[in-house]
Amino acid sequence: METVKKLPMVDLMGQYHKIKDEIDQAIHNVVISSAYINGPEVKSFAKELEEYLQVKHVIPCANGTDALQIAMMALNFQPGDEVITANFTYVATAEVIALLKLKPVLVDVDPATMTIDCDAIERAITPKTVAIVPVHLFGQCADMQRVMDIAKKHKLAVIEDTAQAIGADFKMSDGKMHKAGTIGTIGTTSFFPSKNLGCMGDGGAIFTNDDNHAARMRMIVNHGQGALYHHDEIGVNSRLDSMQAAILRVKLRHLNEYCEARQSAAAYYDKAFANHPKVKIPVRMSGSTHVFHQYTLTLSGVDRAGLRAHLEQKGIPSMIYYPIPLHLQKAYADPRYKAGDFPVTEALCANVISLPMHTELKKDDLQYIVESVLEYIGS
Ligand SMILES: Cc1ncc(COP(=O)(O)O)c(C=O)c1O
Repeated sequence: METVKKLPMVDLMGQYHKIKDEIDQAIHNVVISSAYINGPEVKSFAKELEEYLQVKHVIPCANGTDALQIAMMALNFQPGDEVITANFTYVATAEVIALLKLKPVLVDVDPATMTIDCDAIERAITPKTVAIVPVHLFGQCADMQRVMDIAKKHKLAVIEDTAQAIGADFKMSDGKMHKAGTIGTIGTTSFFPSKNLGCMGDGGAIFTNDDNHAARMRMIVNHGQGALYHHDEIGVNSRLDSMQAAILRVKLRHLNEYCEARQSAAAYYDKAFANHPKVKIPVRMSGSTHVFHQYTLTLSGVDRAGLRAHLEQKGIPSMIYYPIPLHLQKAYADPRYKAGDFPVTEALCANVISLPMHTELKKDDLQYIVESVLEYIGS
């Protein structure tokens, strides 16, 4: 009888075991410090991430969704202001726009890179537009040079949703490399456990080079408090706790090697599928490195559900990021939009499949996954 492997989509336990001593010690140190909230670990992590990203301010917060919300609160957007974002994204990006009573303006994505279509951004700008939120989907940057050029021309803020691309680099036209999330007005990220830099619970952060925005966001994350018990504006309670910060300090030291492990797994997949007529491998955005939060293929002429069932039966998980575009989600139904309005996003939702991608993928796992896919789609 054939032995069936059982592979994970993301191997957090394998990753933990390699750095167990460092992580256990970091957790223990927090436990005995009893500085559980806003302790020194949080401040040290923020400093170390500032250095890593080469950005002036990192403001830790409770998760990547809060990070987006706090960024938008700090920019003083008013109800009804329009915020342009990509339709092909995780719901959080549009959710906070709607929650703040701003108007989400969805645009299609580029069919090659799956990141926001800059021509579509230009077409969507109106006098009420205040910001663009590019999403660095699956681990590579949107075309930040064009996004920034458009933003400058129309005097718009740019909030980079970097939840999936921490560690990626983008080369601007002046030849300088910038870390994802440090190019726009504000960058945001998530430390959800499966993210490229993930903690062991929830976590997030906001980045900016602007002192005023930073001061404002430091106040907003802490109940709008300026001096102790002086609340200058309505804020939120959004904290990264010390335990998560201590874990993240350890993992940040390994982030570059984590990115490299993901890139080398992606290279293996690429080589296997590059010339296959029924799959398109991830297209690299010129100017951006890709840190492969996900490895996502676009299928053509393949029964996706059948492929997933075949893989599942071989112990190989797969995921569909994302099965339904935002404009066809119940919560985001809007008379402005109907099925067919976003042909690229709609086609991607119908045809993408993400394969296991993490830092612990071994060559024989990759070989098994590739062979199993080819077994179904034909080599
Ligand atoms: C693109 C994107 N934005 C925002 C978020 C929200 O992050 P969190 O789950 O930490 O709130 C995620 C998380 O999956 C994401 O993928």
